[in-house]
Parts: sequence; C-alpha cells; structure tokens
Amino acid sequence: AKRVTAPEIAKRKGGTPIVALTAYHAHTARIIDPYVDMLLVGDSLGMVMHGYETTVPVPLELMIMHAQAVVRGSSRALVVVDMPFGTYEESPPIAFRNAARVLKETGCGAIKLEGGVHMAETIRYLTSRGIPVVGHIGLTPQAVNTIGSFKPQGRHRSEWAAFEEDAKAVAEAGAFAVVIEAMAELLAARITKQISIPTIGIGASAECDGQILVLEDMLGLSPRVPKFVKEYAQLGGAIEGAVKAYSTEVRSRAFPSDAYTYPMFEDGDGDTKK
Ligand code: KIV
Ligand code: NA
Repeated sequence: AKRVTAPEIAKRKGGTPIVALTAYHAHTARIIDPYVDMLLVGDSLGMVMHGYETTVPVPLELMIMHAQAVVRGSSRALVVVDMPFGTYEESPPIAFRNAARVLKETGCGAIKLEGGVHMAETIRYLTSRGIPVVGHIGLTPQAVNTIGSFKPQGRHRSEWAAFEEDAKAVAEAGAFAVVIEAMAELLAARITKQISIPTIGIGASAECDGQILVLEDMLGLSPRVPKFVKEYAQLGGAIEGAVKAYSTEVRSRAFPSDAYTYPMFEDGDGDTKK
C-alpha cells in the first residue's frame, strides 16, 4: 500500500475530517496505522515516554529514534515528526539542516514546527526546498518558559488578531496543514474559514478540518489529562490489573503452571519426573 502524502492531506481541506494521532513506537504505530491519515511523532514523547517536565529538553536524536520505529511499524499513514526546541528557531539554514536529517534518517514524510508569523520565513525556506511542513499555532508548548503555563488560547477577543495573523502567515509560507492547540472554538472556526490549508485541532473544537490527540492520553495511560482529552479506553487500569495478578501468581507459584512449562521428553535419557 502507498503512503498518504502531504499534498493528499492538503486536499482534504473542508472535506471528511483528517484523523491523526501521535505514535512513538513500532507496536502502537502498527495497531493504529489502518485507522488514521497521519501519525505524528510528537515531541510530547519527552513528557509522555521519558518523564521530562516539558518538551524543551527533548534531543533531536530521540525524535529520530522514535520516528524510525514509527516508520518501521506503519505502512499507510503519513508520518510527521516534530522538530524539537532549539533545532529550527535560530535560522532557516539550521532548520533545513536538521529537518533534512530527520527526513533522510527516518523516512518520514513531513516535519512539524511551532510558531506563526515569526516562523513563516523558515517554513517558506523548508517547503521551497523539498521539506513538507505542518505548522503549529495557538498553545505552543515549547514556549512554556516565555508564556509561563499551558493554558487555552484565544478566549478573549483581544487575542484574536495575533492568532489569525499566525495562521495566515503559516499557510502563506507553504505549510500543508496547521495544528491548532488549545484554542477557543469561535477563533478556531474563524481561522479554519480564513485559511486555505487544513486545520488539525487538539482542544480546538470540531470546527477544525481534522483532529489529533496524544495516543497515551486517549487510551487512559496518562495520570492527568487536559479538558480536551476524551479517554476512549482505560489502559492504565488494565495494565495495573494484569501486573497485580502476575505479582500475586508469581508469589504463590500459581504462575508458571504446567501450561507454560517445558516438560522433559519421555525417551529415558533425562530426568522425567515432570
Ligand atoms: O507533541 C505533540 O504530541 C503535539 C500534538 C499535541 C499536536 O505536538
Ligand atoms: Na509537539
């Protein structure tokens, strides 16, 4: 099967909503690949998988290793990889060098970077040189140290103009889609109408052209989740239940029972007591 491409995602503007989820590993990528259009190797993996407090410390090498696993584990969905903090902001050529590494070393189909008006020049530099880019506006977690905390954006009309400028700048610079994170519904709806590329919302309402969630959040594996996360399963509880049962059975020697044990062959040359 052929992979979904960046231009195919761009053509979905205003159509059937784009289905996206994060994936960090081969095994989860393999399970979810048939049901999604886009797999995002998000830098949220630093917090979700590696226990960092924010996404700021995430190294490029870590993104590359997880992206390689996701590409190996999937065959259909477009794989998009987040550029981590510090690998693209300084200049368009530095962004190109690092993004080209991600494309060449992982086989992914696109990268994502955070920022609106101030990243437009870089988005144009990358897209005009063969690197498809997904933008990311609204709440941009890599900016946590300047914005102070993760809170929803655009709930005051006074904030709207700046976000609308960001969305237009990202679209005009050549991004093929833009993630809108934690944004008031009315503003996300306005932006979706104003720009020609698909908006992919996370906490930005059903008005967007698609949706994305962090897989571990929607599976109930994260200890705390924001208001916008619907938990479609409670895998944290399922894991705990399985491990509790295992622990009890190991301590009582109920596991491993005969069904899970290799007996000797009955050919007379070994210890056949089992
Ligand atoms: O890192 C991430 O998982 C993301 C999504 C939340 C869009 O950027
Ligand atoms: Na991210």
